[in-house]
Amino acid sequence: MLVLGIESTCDETGVALVRGTELIADVTASSMDEHARFGGIVPEVASRAHLEAFVPTLEEALARAGFGLGDVDAIAVAAGPGLVGSLTVGNSAAKALALALNRPLYGVNHVIGHAVVDELVHGEFPGRTMSLVVSGGHTSLLLFEGGSTALAAGGVTELGHTLDDAAGEAFDKVGRLLGLPYPGGPHIDRLAREGDPTAIAFPRALTAPKDQAKHAYDFSFSGLKTAVARWVENCREAGHEVPVADVAASFADAVADVLVAKTLRACEEHGVDTLVIGGGFSANSQLRELAAARGAEAGIDVRIPPIRYCTDNGAMIAALGSALVRNGAPASSLGIGVDSSMPLNTVLV
Ligand code: KG4
Ligand code: ZN
Repeated sequence: MLVLGIESTCDETGVALVRGTELIADVTASSMDEHARFGGIVPEVASRAHLEAFVPTLEEALARAGFGLGDVDAIAVAAGPGLVGSLTVGNSAAKALALALNRPLYGVNHVIGHAVVDELVHGEFPGRTMSLVVSGGHTSLLLFEGGSTALAAGGVTELGHTLDDAAGEAFDKVGRLLGLPYPGGPHIDRLAREGDPTAIAFPRALTAPKDQAKHAYDFSFSGLKTAVARWVENCREAGHEVPVADVAASFADAVADVLVAKTLRACEEHGVDTLVIGGGFSANSQLRELAAARGAEAGIDVRIPPIRYCTDNGAMIAALGSALVRNGAPASSLGIGVDSSMPLNTVLV
């Protein structure tokens, strides 16, 4: 089955073709350059950019694959969570294609796609798989019971999530206060590599023994962001030059430390020895290094796809669609709506 995947939740228009767990073509257009000067995504600008980019992106994906539309067996589209206008463009296109080609439509969850894309790189998920999905909008711990085969039966449990900012969002906000361009995440990553992660002791939220009962698998980064802001302000008020690399390194270490500690603990407590990390923030080098090192110590197989699969793309949606098709999930109705706040235990609408 050749599955066409369509992604339009935020600022990337992605179209990909997947067969089984093999990626055949993956093309992404981004409108990020149009948003950068506003310091954040402008939803109306993003929607219009999707409208302009969709057909050329589809045509390029088909051309690279050497296939025509008639070769497509099923269509998967990210139905949420994301920006309503952006989602609507991709979903309208997906429905039009499904109707015109008379092929089944699968409206899938974007965040779960961030985890399942790893099947294109490291093969099908084993029986029980933990996933940490970290992006600009999400920080969630997901347990796949029965691997990806359980997806068709909705076998995904969200063990925890951020109570306030997502990891990427916290990086972008700290980037802004350090005067870095938007999005700040990659800039902090780069600066942090030149700094000392032990220079400043920033807080690790929800890691105290008292938090274990209610928030063992939840995260919180807004207090950390405020702590960084206060530290930088004090430094400036005292007339000192801000040691930007050390601030970045200490902040990045605090985020990676909490993400990895909580995730590995969840693996241990649920008897899971495969961990998949996905989402735009999994491009972060401090997180990648710490997860690899501590995962190896704990005997956990840590799977992180290459960076090009971590940011939003069509391959993640095609990969999830393919897993659903392979496992006999029922197709969606052509009447489905988009869901900007789709819950993470919903795999397919
Ligand atoms: O998944 P994604 O492409 O879009 C969302 O669905 O949010 O994630 C984008 C987020 C942004 O916050 C960006 O700053 C962050 O991921 N990010 C990084 C790095 N690369 C991207 N944050 C830290 N270090 C990086 N290397
Ligand atoms: Zn995403």
